[in-house]
Amino acid sequence: MADHSILVPTQGARRAVGAYLAVFGAVLLLMMVLGLLMRLNQGGLVTLPPELFYQSMTVHGTGMVGVAGIGGAAVLWHFLGRYVRLTTWVFVFNLVTFVIGAAMILSADFIGGFAAAWTFLFPLPANAGGQWEDWAAAVHLGGLLLIGTGFLLFHLDTARAILGRYGSLTRALGWPSLFGSDPQPPPATVVASTMVLIVNILGLVFGASVLVISLINLMVPQFAIDAMIAKNMIYFFGHVFINATIYMAVIAVYELLPEYTGRPWKPNRPFLAAWTLSTVLVMVAYPHHLLMDFGMPRWVLIVGQIVSYISGLPILVVTAFGALMIVFRSGLRWDLGAGLLFVGVFGWAAGVIPAIIDATIIVNSVMHNTLWVPGHFHSYLLLGQVAMLLGFACWLGKASGGTSPSRLFNALAFWLFVGGGIGLTQSFLYSGRSGVPRRFAEYLPEWIGQARIGALSAALVVLGAAMLAGRLLAGLHRPTGAR
Ligand code: HEM
Repeated sequence: MADHSILVPTQGARRAVGAYLAVFGAVLLLMMVLGLLMRLNQGGLVTLPPELFYQSMTVHGTGMVGVAGIGGAAVLWHFLGRYVRLTTWVFVFNLVTFVIGAAMILSADFIGGFAAAWTFLFPLPANAGGQWEDWAAAVHLGGLLLIGTGFLLFHLDTARAILGRYGSLTRALGWPSLFGSDPQPPPATVVASTMVLIVNILGLVFGASVLVISLINLMVPQFAIDAMIAKNMIYFFGHVFINATIYMAVIAVYELLPEYTGRPWKPNRPFLAAWTLSTVLVMVAYPHHLLMDFGMPRWVLIVGQIVSYISGLPILVVTAFGALMIVFRSGLRWDLGAGLLFVGVFGWAAGVIPAIIDATIIVNSVMHNTLWVPGHFHSYLLLGQVAMLLGFACWLGKASGGTSPSRLFNALAFWLFVGGGIGLTQSFLYSGRSGVPRRFAEYLPEWIGQARIGALSAALVVLGAAMLAGRLLAGLHRPTGAR
């Protein structure tokens, strides 16, 4: 039977989490402002030169995915450190590579003009048609590679620490309790962290491989890869990485709702089965990003469609159901942190529904290049993943003894973020339903009204997030003493 006693984090470990949250807050706000500018441009309220729109879109997409990973890593590390001995310098190294990589990407895109979107599809980086030079593509791809390397080391360290305490990955996933009679499964955090390390290590290896191939291709054009294989590798990496950011953030729900309610979140058999099932399914579901590619074998796309219906659902169902059960009649005293965590589960669940609709081949062939897609992923990332991370940051600030702003300030920040987030995501979804294309800098007159509603909502989100981030940054100079 495994030993699940709690470890106490060192002062250095607490400071490192604070540094992660500071970078998270600052980059998140910067990327949100870029998103607002893009939506204002689509609504005809500001005019960005087209090349600047696509550079901003590239920076926004790449930066948001990266910073969601950084926030998720902070949550995972903070709570996993209660159960296994992690290495602080590896955690800090990941942050340093992220900051250097982000600076490389910012200069490659805004100075060098690189604008191939966060998906950097091969062979686009080397075929810019005069929009950017090879050095800009090389610096952008190099920045991504650096960031990926940091994350790879981070997950390898969690793997080392988990294996050190639990002996094998299957034990850490709770298989002796799932398939046997061990009455004491590992904590939910250990199960989730194990799933994340398995899928993300594989995803990062594929991502790094295609990045290296693209970099060599920039220098030696004869060195090429089949474009369809490259696209599969990129989307396998991108799909797994962004899903893993949610699976890292959800750890805050498993750890903090029990603290708020005084009720434990004990992994039961359905919980363990859901995490094991999703470990496999999340990796098999990625072809739903390639449903419009006629070069793909048809059977792969059919598998992608079917698996997409069920891939994220097991974890979502056990988490949403668990969250409702743990809160129901618990006498929980709601505060900003608890509210954001709860909204996070709601936003995640709400966003998955339009995503599943889009994963149906016949719907996808009409909807995939419309704003329906940004509509669903902004729902589960902005109102889901980011809300959970902000909830964690608020809890940490409060638990560290930081002074809490007035209830009015908190309520205002919360409703600006949530209300604006609903307006922004619904404006994307409604536009998608009306057939408005995604990734268009300039709009036809009949699309502009919806973009303006989106822009107004985005401004509310930025304001709410700025209030939350300001609160977070103001609290970070205090020692993060509490667990
Ligand atoms: C204030 C909040 C935000 C605003 C105003 C915003 C706005 C936008 C806009 C206007 C686009 C381009 C849509 C198109 O025409 O195709 C976009 C794309 C995107 N956004 Fe956001 N966004 C916000 C938050 C987020 C968050 C929190 C994330 C992830 C954590 C995110 C990730 C992305 C990604 C990955 C893309 C796709 C870029 C591409 O197509 O290459 N955004 N966003």
